[in-house]
Amino acid sequence: MNHSLSIKHNNSAPAAQESVLEIWGRASLKGHVKISGAKNSALAIMAGSLLCPEDCRLRNVPALVDIGMMGEILSALGVKLERIGDTLEIDARHLNNSIAPYELVSKLRASFFALGPLLARMGEARIPLPGGCAIGARPVDLHVRGLQAMGAEVHIEHGMVHAYVKGTLSKRLKGAKIYLDYPSVGATETLMMAATLAEGETIIENAAQEPEVTDLAGFCRAMGAQIRGDGTNTIVINGVPSLHSVDYPIIPDRIEAGTFLVAGAITHSEIILSPVVPDHLIPVIAKLKDIGCQVIAEDAHSLRIVPGNLLATDIETLPYPGFPTDMQAPFMALLTLAQGNSAIAETVFENRLGHVPELNRMGADIRIKGNMALVRGVPILSGAPVMATDLRASAALVLAGLAADGKTTIQGLHHLDRGYENLEAKLQQLGAKLQRVPIDAESEVESTSEVTTELSEVSH
Ligand code: EPU
Repeated sequence: MNHSLSIKHNNSAPAAQESVLEIWGRASLKGHVKISGAKNSALAIMAGSLLCPEDCRLRNVPALVDIGMMGEILSALGVKLERIGDTLEIDARHLNNSIAPYELVSKLRASFFALGPLLARMGEARIPLPGGCAIGARPVDLHVRGLQAMGAEVHIEHGMVHAYVKGTLSKRLKGAKIYLDYPSVGATETLMMAATLAEGETIIENAAQEPEVTDLAGFCRAMGAQIRGDGTNTIVINGVPSLHSVDYPIIPDRIEAGTFLVAGAITHSEIILSPVVPDHLIPVIAKLKDIGCQVIAEDAHSLRIVPGNLLATDIETLPYPGFPTDMQAPFMALLTLAQGNSAIAETVFENRLGHVPELNRMGADIRIKGNMALVRGVPILSGAPVMATDLRASAALVLAGLAADGKTTIQGLHHLDRGYENLEAKLQQLGAKLQRVPIDAESEVESTSEVTTELSEVSH
């Protein structure tokens, strides 16, 4: 195995910070699009590889900036990684450090996922508090309380979470019954990973049921962990003394798939997507039907979107199997062009409406009331210079740009590159007219958005 970190960033395009995306809207799309591996599964599973003292091979890993950053975190802990195509070979045999560096954690919130596995494997971990980000404060109290219930001492000092298992020779956490006040994806993942190596049984009640949680459970099981109930709200883990090598494929990205379904709907185009797991898209498909589109299963792993006249609908984001918060911004872009009034309630994150002023710059009619966006459908959007404020907001702007009259120029592409693999190439292949161009003095985009702060640099 090559001992250097060789994860390729998604850098087939020029450096994101120096480029803008120009889209000429109203082109029809047609054809097939390949859906990449799920970013949020891959991030959690990469952290989970810290549990494995033997070789670990992950397949279908998307080439994204966030994945590269998680690789850097693991590398800083002593893990060896090598990327070959979409396969990631991970060797976490010799961990030489249980402290994740702040410079990296501050750029990638998901690196906090290292806490549970590091603590379980090493008996100690020090991870900087990740802090808030563009979409909300995002505390980690549920992760911490759960680990404490499993016998960990946790001190938060100087911006650092220091967790350790006291005293005993074995340094193993103890199984516990943990009720989560909210079915947090991250907390469920942290506690499930920690419990795989704990002594005895852990029961996580009111657990998150997201497919990414189930994928992480599948990965841990493939290493010999004893987990059942994932995909329901009660997960039971019987700790084992150690885990073994694994070869594991990441599930397809349901949010990328949902984004392409909306691309078909908003451009009135038929698109076929694969591979997908249709069951992971049930709330998204149901809403597309309400809006007037059909989503047809071509086979067990392919979906076809058949567009229709767009009709208003109401949406409330919820933990899975409710409507995903990560699809809220893309659906808002779609509903700006629907007949009638739609109400969209964001209940998962407290600050996830940064795309609203930008969509309004394109002629949308959206008002914000608390955590609600009230969307009055308009007949047409007009291309404009806009600023991406977070990952899914940037996807919404791309979708709006595909439907808008004239040229849309999107700035802040570093958000997009964190979560969508080769988005431009995939859209171009479907017939969209778009290109990434370096920013020059003339094309510098001025946005009215006040949301873009340093915080919005932090990833998801
Ligand atoms: N929360 C707490 N305390 C905690 C943990 C969470 O109050 O200890 C709150 C959060 O502040 C938030 C809510 O619970 O208001 C939900 O947070 P959750 O922990 O479920 O989300 P997460 O694990 O931080 C993951 C995804 C997000 C996705 C959410 C919800 C990763 C790396 N991120 O975040 O993905 O929106 O679950 O499904 O898995 C994205 O991909 O764009 C993205 C933001």
